[in-house]
Amino acid sequence: MEFDKKEFKHIKEVLEEKKDDVFLRGWVYRLREQKELIFVSLRDVSGIIQLVVDKSKVGYEIFSKAKKLTIESSFMVCGKLRKEERSPQGYEIDVEDLEIVGVSEKYPISKDFSEEYLLDVRHLWLRSRKMISIMKIRDTVFSAIHSYFKKQGFYLYHSPVLQSVQCEGGSSLFKVNYFEKPGVFLAQTWQLYAEPAIMALEKIYTISPSFRAEKSKTSRHLTEYWHAEMEAAWIDFKELQDHGEFLLKEILKEVLDKNKEELKILKRDTKILESSLEKSFVRMTYTKALEILKEKCDLDIEWGKDLRTIEEDKLSKLHDTFVIITHYPKQVKAFYMKEDKDDSKVVLGFDCIAPEGYGEIIGASERESDLEKIKERLLEQGEDPSQYEFYLDTRRYGSVPHGGFGLGVERVISFICGLSTIKDAIAFPRTMVRYKP
Ligand code: 4AD
Ligand code: MG
Repeated sequence: MEFDKKEFKHIKEVLEEKKDDVFLRGWVYRLREQKELIFVSLRDVSGIIQLVVDKSKVGYEIFSKAKKLTIESSFMVCGKLRKEERSPQGYEIDVEDLEIVGVSEKYPISKDFSEEYLLDVRHLWLRSRKMISIMKIRDTVFSAIHSYFKKQGFYLYHSPVLQSVQCEGGSSLFKVNYFEKPGVFLAQTWQLYAEPAIMALEKIYTISPSFRAEKSKTSRHLTEYWHAEMEAAWIDFKELQDHGEFLLKEILKEVLDKNKEELKILKRDTKILESSLEKSFVRMTYTKALEILKEKCDLDIEWGKDLRTIEEDKLSKLHDTFVIITHYPKQVKAFYMKEDKDDSKVVLGFDCIAPEGYGEIIGASERESDLEKIKERLLEQGEDPSQYEFYLDTRRYGSVPHGGFGLGVERVISFICGLSTIKDAIAFPRTMVRYKP
């Protein structure tokens, strides 16, 4: 058989077309030998199907080739599609010929399925059905973010990854040795480099890596994560919340539409995804959140303290959709958040909390427009305002009301896929203790 000239199909297409003669290529997923029969599960990007190599039909030579197959060997095969009620796909393939492309050495993933080991061999674990499903959903999530912002008339805009200022607190900055120069960091956010650009493009967004030197070993923290951010001129606080809600709904809609199979493989109960898509997000102030925590959860939080993970989790578990918490005390939020003109103790910022305890997905705010207030708050946080001159210029030369947010893409993926750790939401996770392979 000449395999070069054949038209290969994916398993999914073959199952849809139901033509007799099939040509497939992929990797050995499972292997079982029974006297004169070899059962091979073939995996390709689209799925898995069982192949049967019957010595009495293919003859000695082809059967010998099949005997050389090992788990994860790559190979090409031709055969006949046959109905088989007992197989999960409803079909099997009777092999007529096959050719090994790359023999696999003894595949290391066979017994040890511990989280740490699977991270050590992540380059191979990517081939698992779990990781394939997550990566496909991740692809949908990224596409949905782009398509949402495009439909809303936003420009894609890029900020530098090497930056000279902090934005989200000095303690989580990664310092870079930049030709021995002091004060160069990896981006925590695009924000300070995005605000200047809205005076030019008005509505902008990005999806790019952000870096946090966070010493937290939680199921929600990465040191390198993908950050979807938007910034818009003339936007008010309600519109900003609406964008957060509608962006998340666009993502949910697309995944529920395109990734039914993957969600099934991940055994994700989709009820919570559906209710989040259908219902209006719950919106409440920080002060109201404290009242609810006291009343319904028996948690007495002093006004002015930030909400911790435990409080966010309790609040999220009261609802089967996202919760948007607004008007936080000024002292727990970043220097750039706009003071509420009706209550100078709080800011026009919000966090959007995912259901089921998946935590903060979006951090947002209207931006402070008062130059002196920004300088004051930078000083309060121990920063030197002279380092922020380029940013302060945005308030000096024709400033406009504006605001924006950042969404942690892996956090959304974690929630959508129902993952027990955010590390599985990205191919090669980076955490405090994990930077290899
Ligand atoms: O709340 P954060 O720190 O907000 C900002 O960076 C703003 N400057 C964004 C903006 O207004 N343009 O981060 C935004 C989101 C969080 O809500 C969270 O989802 C995610 O980024 N995030 C992380 N995701 C994974 N690992 C980490 N260590 C994260 N830190 C923040
Ligand atoms: Mg935040």
